[in-house]
Amino acid sequence: MPPFDTFFNPDEIAALTAPDFSPEQNLALLATKFAGSIVFSTSFGLEDQAITHLLHAAQLPVSVFTLDTGRLFPETYKVWSRTLEKYGMNIDVYAPDTTALESLLHKKGPLSFYESVENRKECCEIRKLEPLTRALKGYKLWITGIRAEQSPNRQHMEVLEWDERLGLFKFHPLFYWSQEKLVDFISQHNIPYNSLHDKGFVSIGCSPCTRAVREGEDFRAGRWWWEDNSGKECGLHQPSDNNNKNVNTVAAL
Ligand code: ADX
Ligand code: SF4
Repeated sequence: MPPFDTFFNPDEIAALTAPDFSPEQNLALLATKFAGSIVFSTSFGLEDQAITHLLHAAQLPVSVFTLDTGRLFPETYKVWSRTLEKYGMNIDVYAPDTTALESLLHKKGPLSFYESVENRKECCEIRKLEPLTRALKGYKLWITGIRAEQSPNRQHMEVLEWDERLGLFKFHPLFYWSQEKLVDFISQHNIPYNSLHDKGFVSIGCSPCTRAVREGEDFRAGRWWWEDNSGKECGLHQPSDNNNKNVNTVAAL
């Protein structure tokens, strides 16, 4: 069973999962509760930039890391750099294991991910998942920029989840935010953002695997666009299973 009762009392669960919760307050609550074992992962997308801003504004003691897959857009490196300049915060970096990457490139070439879902998952495993496992080692709570609105898959996730594989909690402070609210927040606070967002890119990952979306297409249509639309996740985030249901899901809104 997910150990919610061991770590949280009912009032904390209620505060952390209320559909109208304040991200500032809940981040502060978690930073105190999980002092020294709370971490935030950023890919420098709009959501992550908003969270970075909140963490910095309140000077919360939360570690931050990014996964540099080696295939990010130049625009992503640019906003990464601007974020360092503006917020002056420490951002840890995890890169793929060199031996595993050299072997993949040697055996299958640089574009194997277009050939099959299996090949794509192999590349994501080497460039994202293995570094992610290293990045999260020793932490008990992981903050991400996931929002329910991003995909049907994500609507089935929980705002506060237990990740069985990694053995830690995940919390998504912007889970209930709409795209409109997010964009307003970024512009109100003059937060640096990836310039690709102005060119039709909504969800931004590795450059060979991300394209802009067209009017009417869903949020994640530009990710691994050549694959079937049903369950496009790279493995960083999987929907929680039924045992994981702690309280509100977005369906309960
Ligand atoms: S993904 O699983 O499809 O790649 P997505 O791009 O939607 O994820 O991002 C969701 C959240 O996962 C981000 O808000 C961030 O917390 C985390 N994340 C995704 N990519 C990275 C990355 N390269 N480095 C660090 N965190 C990441
Ligand atoms: Fe490889 Fe594409 Fe996955 Fe990036 S998103 S790790 S390039 S398959």
